[in-house]
Amino acid sequence: MEFRQITAAERTSAMFPLQAYAFMPSPWPDEEEATYQRRMRFYETAVSMIAEEDGRALAGVAALRMRQNVRGRVHDMAGVASVASHPSARRRGLVRGLLERLLRQMRDEGCAVSALYPFRPSFYARFGFVNIPRHRTAAFAPEGLSHLLPAELPGEVERLTMREGFEAYDGLTRRLLTERHGFAIYDEARTAEFRDDRYWVAVARVEGEVVGAVRYRVDRYGGDLVASDLLATGPLGRALLLQFFARHVDQVARVVVTISTDEVPELWGTDLAVVTEGEVSHPRHGAPMVRVLDLEGLSGTPVGAGTVTVEVRDDELIGGLWRLESDNGRLTVTKGGNPPAAILTAAGLSGLVYGVLDPVEVFTRGLGEISAAAVQPLSSLFPRRMPYIFADF
Ligand SMILES: CC(C)(COP(=O)(O)OP(=O)(O)OC[C@H]1O[C@@H](n2cnc3c(N)ncnc32)[C@H](O)[C@@H]1OP(=O)(O)O)[C@@H](O)C(=O)NCCC(=O)NCCS
Repeated sequence: MEFRQITAAERTSAMFPLQAYAFMPSPWPDEEEATYQRRMRFYETAVSMIAEEDGRALAGVAALRMRQNVRGRVHDMAGVASVASHPSARRRGLVRGLLERLLRQMRDEGCAVSALYPFRPSFYARFGFVNIPRHRTAAFAPEGLSHLLPAELPGEVERLTMREGFEAYDGLTRRLLTERHGFAIYDEARTAEFRDDRYWVAVARVEGEVVGAVRYRVDRYGGDLVASDLLATGPLGRALLLQFFARHVDQVARVVVTISTDEVPELWGTDLAVVTEGEVSHPRHGAPMVRVLDLEGLSGTPVGAGTVTVEVRDDELIGGLWRLESDNGRLTVTKGGNPPAAILTAAGLSGLVYGVLDPVEVFTRGLGEISAAAVQPLSSLFPRRMPYIFADF
């Protein structure tokens, strides 16, 4: 068995048949391969790897070059995707061999963190990943926002095609990358594919500054306005976009919009009737997962007060003894130290760093052993803080 990195051009012959069989209705139409091949220019910067036997690819994995905000610091991030193996080669450890190589290489190339959308979280838990929240959707009739119709808000919303609005939309995602915990975006090569998306984009501006944007489509007259993530820099941007939705009263019956877990739609209007849902199911709607690839790479992260020594067990990338300390509100990470006050898996440590698990939950989830003395410093260093990943891959 040979494990090797391949170019974007090689993906069509080596990875397309594995991915098409794994993820598409099949047998697939002939034209699918040509479509895939055309899309490969957007994968030029991705790191793709295959396991090959007698010249035949039996399994493949890839990492998209992305960036992600973790507690206020932006890191290079490996977005794991295109994971598939041939049905007759499954359960032979091929994907394990590939993922271990891929994560090591991405860490060596400077990625401090990694994220993915799992078909089954327990599979990726074996590789040190831990779940973070999946987005929610809010569905409501535009009438519920009618109070916004006469409101004179200090800003305006423009409806554009994605091609026209791309710079504004993309610029806003880059700004939110620096401002929102968990927010992740692709590099330029991959992002370019979305320039020609057949979506409208509503762009909210205040004195020329983009303060909100949302991609959407209208499925039919009297039907749904289906919007992806409601992106805003603050309440005014959100209100401008909601006012824009309200103007679709009598055109659509419902607005269905993707939101982060910290949005509370019942507070958007007094009489707003709304269904807020978060569906997690497998294999298609998994909650995203993340992990730390390089613990020292997290030095400088804004954290709370505290000092603690932890041991990360059973992990090639971040295993060992680590002293974690707050230096004037910034994390310092030093190898070695006292006997550990907590023994963590990579997933347990990642859950603390990303703010999704409290130390007690790390213990109750079976992701670590935490002495009573470690609970306080760990929860103070890494206060609970829900990430919002935005990127979907
Ligand atoms: C999921 C898939 C990629 C696994 O590939 P594979 O080559 O069988 O994986 P491996 O043999 O390397 O297994 C790695 C580990 O995961 C375990 N595992 C395999 N399939 C699993 C499953 N469905 N659920 C939980 N664990 C699983 C293996 O037992 C092995 O554990 P170990 O190394 O700790 O002993 C393959 O089944 C596939 O292509 N499925 C369809 C496409 C898909 O869902 N891709 C993932 C998209 S996120």
